[in-house]
Amino acid sequence: MASPRILILGAPGAGKGTQSANITDHFDIEHITTGDALRANKEMDISHLGLEYDTPGEYMNAGELVPDEVVNEIVDEALSQADGFVLDGYPRNLKQASELESMTELDLALMLDVSEDELVHRLTGRRLDPETGDIYHVEYNPPEDDDVEARLVQRDDDTEETVKERLRVYRENTEPVIEHYEEADLLERVDGEKTPDQVWDDVRETIESAT
Ligand code: AP5
Repeated sequence: MASPRILILGAPGAGKGTQSANITDHFDIEHITTGDALRANKEMDISHLGLEYDTPGEYMNAGELVPDEVVNEIVDEALSQADGFVLDGYPRNLKQASELESMTELDLALMLDVSEDELVHRLTGRRLDPETGDIYHVEYNPPEDDDVEARLVQRDDDTEETVKERLRVYRENTEPVIEHYEEADLLERVDGEKTPDQVWDDVRETIESAT
């Protein structure tokens, strides 16, 4: 089987990062994530663009999308170095979807369906291990090790106010992207409200039958 080229879609908190970690391990492919790439470049000077803010971090903390010019370049560079991949966090609007078409072809667009109340609960309870990048949740998935628990951090944009703005931005900009892949007959939906292990079983089966 050739290395799969997978797009993972879903609202903030749907479990894209959680399932991408399973996908990359199992299928031995790259995880290309615009969110992580932008968090690593939060202070990058983008003032030459003459837009609302001068760094990616300011857009992220406001729950807004970082300008397309910045994000397109990150994805183009990452895709040029990957054979198979799971692409997470991009495209987030129709312009980015059109840009992606000029960069690569996809085997599958996988959509994780989760209700809005559950998304808010997941995001405000999410914690990250800054040493390993592992994702936890205070209630659904706490770490077993006390040392790990003591070093967990919360993402700056996981406050209730910013989460609500991220969900609004998602509805306005990214829902049309879902329709776009549905019309292109590339979209497969998975129920993202089951337990992480059950979601993974469904994700794996969906990828295996589509690629
Ligand atoms: P990004 O980092 O991409 O964030 P997001 O899309 O908002 O998604 P999240 O990472 O918050 O959620 P997730 O779906 O990965 O969920 P997770 O697996 O962690 O983007 C952040 C910002 O960067 C954007 O707001 C924007 O400013 C900028 N940006 C990024 N890409 C951009 C682009 N293309 N263009 C412009 N700007 C861009 O899970 C969440 C929690 O739920 C965890 O605690 C987890 O343990 C738990 N959980 C997961 N699955 C389950 C389950 N099945 N049951 C119970 N709990 C679960």
